[in-house]
Amino acid sequence: MDLYIDTASLDEIKQAAAMGVLDGVTTNPSLIAKEGVDYSKRLAEICEVVPGPVSAEVIATDYEGMLKEGRERAKIASNIVVKLPSTLDGLRACKTLSDEGTRTNLTLCFQPLQALMVAKAGAFLVSPFIGRLDDIGQDGMELIRQIRAVYDNYGYPTKLLAASIRHPLHIVDCALAGADVVTVPFGVIKQMMNHPLTDSGLAKFVADYKKAFGG
Ligand code: G3P
Repeated sequence: MDLYIDTASLDEIKQAAAMGVLDGVTTNPSLIAKEGVDYSKRLAEICEVVPGPVSAEVIATDYEGMLKEGRERAKIASNIVVKLPSTLDGLRACKTLSDEGTRTNLTLCFQPLQALMVAKAGAFLVSPFIGRLDDIGQDGMELIRQIRAVYDNYGYPTKLLAASIRHPLHIVDCALAGADVVTVPFGVIKQMMNHPLTDSGLAKFVADYKKAFGG
């Protein structure tokens, strides 16, 4: 399973890249707004740090606007993946950009038919949002299982990228359900290596050794 970081913070991206396990990056307008930086400039900086896919979302919501922005974003670096909403206009833009050879990530996916449609339109990635479904009392992980089954039934090559990850258990369940990629906030990436028994076990190893041999 590939691991992407879900952030626009260059510092977080550099720290995650230094762990040696980072396969890509996803950004969105909310994450860029939080950083308060120019979106294109930040994307160029990210692409210098991470050679894997870097998702760059469009702000426009109409087909022509998405195409214009998508083509501009795609020029920033060869590893840019243009992120489009899972709407009818987004679907059209996905087909056009995919036919032009630009990879796309169809975001804000909340039901399996959106995933089926964007796969048919040539999407490179689809981003179902687990946490936001959980937030409204629906089972976000069930959506991951449904999309996995649909894609496997028909052999669609679109990669299933689980997004809106809130905690480590989401990632365990995504790996068991066969998600191709998870995109994870930096805080949760760090939690992936945490266990209290690791900490207490390590402290005991060190203490036992020092007691016997000093130091
Ligand atoms: O990048 C899209 C997605 O991961 C957003 O997550 O936590 O805002 O629902 P969240």
